[in-house]
Amino acid sequence: MKRILVTGGAGFIGANFVHHMIAHSDSEITVLDKMTYAANRQSLEGLDSKRVNVVVGDICDYVLVNELVPQHDAVVHFAAETHNDNSLHDPRSFVNANILGTFEILEAVRNHSVRLHHISTDEVYGDLELDDPQRFTESTPYKPSSPYSASKASSDLLVKAWVRSFGIEATLSNCSNNYGPYQHVEKFIPRQITNILAGQRTKLYGNGKNVRDWIHASDHSSAVKRILESGESGRTYLIGADGERNNLDVLCMILSLMGKDENEFERVADRPGHDLRYAIDSTVLRTELGWRPQYTNLEHGLEQTIAWYRENRSWWESAKAQTEERYRSQHVTDAVGVAR
Ligand code: NAD
Ligand code: TYD
Repeated sequence: MKRILVTGGAGFIGANFVHHMIAHSDSEITVLDKMTYAANRQSLEGLDSKRVNVVVGDICDYVLVNELVPQHDAVVHFAAETHNDNSLHDPRSFVNANILGTFEILEAVRNHSVRLHHISTDEVYGDLELDDPQRFTESTPYKPSSPYSASKASSDLLVKAWVRSFGIEATLSNCSNNYGPYQHVEKFIPRQITNILAGQRTKLYGNGKNVRDWIHASDHSSAVKRILESGESGRTYLIGADGERNNLDVLCMILSLMGKDENEFERVADRPGHDLRYAIDSTVLRTELGWRPQYTNLEHGLEQTIAWYRENRSWWESAKAQTEERYRSQHVTDAVGVAR
């Protein structure tokens, strides 16, 4: 895998993956990224320009995608609209990027016989009850709840159909919630950390009992690298690091690590259709491909992540004001339109 095309490489997980591959392989990488609000050019700064080339463009651009794909040995497809809250306000952009964009990538890898790894989420499986002993596995039926997860589920199904019908060489992975450096401040963990750093109150949706299965983005990257190297075409691999915690616990951990009282948060209106719990069983990836996560202590991973946001204010400060303004405007619309 010498030459890799990474779509969405200026976003959170894509950028972590590019850093990981530059540090742990001899690959040359082309990033194809539309540079939406979720991208940040600074996330790719300092990388060897002989090994990383950034192309600003849209995965929906047939001509561009068909020019780039044949110049590579593999495509790792991260590009997507990714925030559930936004998908409730602007579902069209999710259908365009996540479904139509993946269609263009699939047609290009089919036309040029290039290996694909498709990045997806555990949210395609819907949610679990809090007391359900089961976790998601590769055979859990799809049952997405939000426009975001439905569009990701659609993209997964397209990939599976292109494998079956056209024989493309493709693997898929569905990962749980990521945290770590370079994550946009709209997402739960960086939103709370940067609220505290900016002197604002942290925000908890509903009763805070919703459970997410946290994994560090660096462990997600090492899992994707392992699948690229040894994964079997046509297979799906679930990626998770046994990091189940409810939102209130995570928030209290952040508050305490940042020297704040654990009651210093504001309960805000719940997200409509809010998934209760995600949980991944990653036995297949561990036993068949021998993958292991490095970050097994969430508190330790959060401590490092907090330090990163503290030391990199210039990376997030301009996005912070815009993001909080967007949240405020979405809540205003909700008061008149959607019930929250
Ligand atoms: P992100 O929102 O931080 O980054 C997405 C990137 O894709 C951005 O750089 C954006 O500019 C780019 N992009 C969006 N539309 C594009 C288009 N039409 N053409 C080219 N580029 C485009 O997202 P993320 O959190 O890094 O997620 C990356 C992938 O991982 C997504 O496919 C997501 O579904 C999946 N995933 C995310 C998580 C998570 O916890 N964040 C968990 C599991 C899976
Ligand atoms: P998020 O980071 O948006 O990821 P996802 O919706 O993909 O799980 O949210 C993670 C959890 O945190 C989710 O249960 C919603 C909740 N949440 C809050 O309680 N407060 C917030 O400010 C945000 C953004 C999310």
